[in-house]
Amino acid sequence: MSDLAAQPVKQKTEHLPPFPLNQWYVAALSRELKDEPVARMMLGNPIVLFRNADGEVAALEDRCCHRALPLSCGTLEPDGLRCGYHGMLYNSQGQCTEIPGQEKIPRRARVKAYPVKEQDDIVWIWFGEDANEPPAFEPPRYSPHRSDQYFFDGGVFHYQAPYQLIHDNLLDLSHLGYVHLKTIGGNAKVHMNAQMDVSSDEKSVHVVRHMLDSEPPPTYTAAYPFKGRVDRWQEIEFHISHLRIWTGAVDAGSEPIDNPSRGGFHMRGFHGITPETETTSHYFWTIASNPTENQEEVMKKVVDQTAYTFEEDKEVIEAQYRNMIDFPGEPMIDIHVDAAPNRARRIIEHLRTRSGK
Ligand code: FES
Ligand SMILES: [Fe+2]
Repeated sequence: MSDLAAQPVKQKTEHLPPFPLNQWYVAALSRELKDEPVARMMLGNPIVLFRNADGEVAALEDRCCHRALPLSCGTLEPDGLRCGYHGMLYNSQGQCTEIPGQEKIPRRARVKAYPVKEQDDIVWIWFGEDANEPPAFEPPRYSPHRSDQYFFDGGVFHYQAPYQLIHDNLLDLSHLGYVHLKTIGGNAKVHMNAQMDVSSDEKSVHVVRHMLDSEPPPTYTAAYPFKGRVDRWQEIEFHISHLRIWTGAVDAGSEPIDNPSRGGFHMRGFHGITPETETTSHYFWTIASNPTENQEEVMKKVVDQTAYTFEEDKEVIEAQYRNMIDFPGEPMIDIHVDAAPNRARRIIEHLRTRSGK
């Protein structure tokens, strides 16, 4: 078995950073950032996120350089973020631009600013191995958020569990038939026996599963007028900071399902998994779908059922992690469904240990 399987993040090489740092991570969904600062610890760094007067997102260290009040306790003004204790004003670059009652602003009156980029309704943040180096590449694009074909909605969960347990869960959809019977599940045996193809490269893992001639699960029949049995696909892409999961179905035998322009019912999930600490995580999700009729009503159903589904996952994963703490160091065996999760763990471990060298 892989010694990386389902272990908490920190085991070996403890002097190295616990997460790959040269990556864009999801800091927020765009809709979260309105007219108030948002406090969020990410990769162990307390950060305050806010929009400046031009609507651009900024990310600063969440600590006033005067007497350390979190800047997220302050207020947004046209010229920046004002500390809620003695009123120092900071711009998007973290520079203090005003000290009430004092003319001279000390050169060191500034806080750290992190590179951020907002695109496709997602706010990305870069921590970096070297704080003086700009990001080595652009953040990823996410086309379903820009497509006319899809509507989408989503939310944010906080997890009392390490982020790799969430990767494990999303890379192994065989759990649908046990955890999600009320929504996207279906017959457990069909899931466990689904034909599965796993491939990977240095930075990603791809899983394709087909379930031909199967019973459509409740969410599917609620959202789409299937005639009877369906051919289902599940395509999962793992990247270091997020997963893209494209699932759906067509009427059984009506058309090939390995063609990206296939018809039928689609659910395209975006899953941004950002470590908060080594043992807790942020989970940013959206679901995009293509309802053909009663779009608003169907979309609401798809989103509600997706949120319900993810709450089921959260319950399982947090219970799993509590038990891992209660049974420290106990071995865990691998079974066939662990192939993709184990590859993702190897990719992260490789990048993490390489980043400290
Ligand atoms: S603590 Fe922020 S201005 Fe004093
Ligand atoms: Fe799940």
